[in-house]
Amino acid sequence: MTGDIKEVLLSKETLDKRVRELGAEITADYKGKEILMIGVLRGAVIFMGDLARAIDLPVALDFMAVSSYGTASSSSGVVRILKDLDESVEGKHLLIVEDIIDSGLTLKYLMDNLMSRNPASAKICTLLNKPSRRKIAVDVAYNGFDIPDEFVVGYGLDYAEKYRNLPFIGVLRPEAYKH
Ligand code: IMP
Ligand code: MG
Repeated sequence: MTGDIKEVLLSKETLDKRVRELGAEITADYKGKEILMIGVLRGAVIFMGDLARAIDLPVALDFMAVSSYGTASSSSGVVRILKDLDESVEGKHLLIVEDIIDSGLTLKYLMDNLMSRNPASAKICTLLNKPSRRKIAVDVAYNGFDIPDEFVVGYGLDYAEKYRNLPFIGVLRPEAYKH
């Protein structure tokens, strides 16, 4: 499987270190509060598991699954909720956890949707960010890494549901797209 990877962009050690930093920052910012972490399925799951363990505060976990209309490479901004949260968010401090922000359209929709449910607060934490691809502004409170406009996999991110379990973030070889 690692033979399909052209280049390791972020090693396991680099990811571990940054996740611990983000956890410490979040712990300091939310001191005395409880956090409801909302993971966006499925890509955020691995990052969220590590991030939750790097936060030294009470955290609850819930999940949403969304799909955006349009093609794989360009989302239209119209988002459909495939799986909604199990619990109410009213009065809670929400931390929305994403694997990567590309156009920003998915998160913009999610943020607006969650804000309409009257949480106490809502912030975004993304592992990766592709600033050059942004179509709509989103306010990102916590960002692991800015990366160039390349298709990456691993640490939760997939190509056709593969590579999510790689312990690093890598760039796929073009040949790997053809299978
Ligand atoms: P957007 O910000 O609405 O354009 O969508 C972001 C979503 O597109 C992410 O949650 C990923 O599922 C997917 N995505 C964007 N870039 C990549 C990539 O480089 N690798 C894997 N998935 C990606
Ligand atoms: Mg995603």
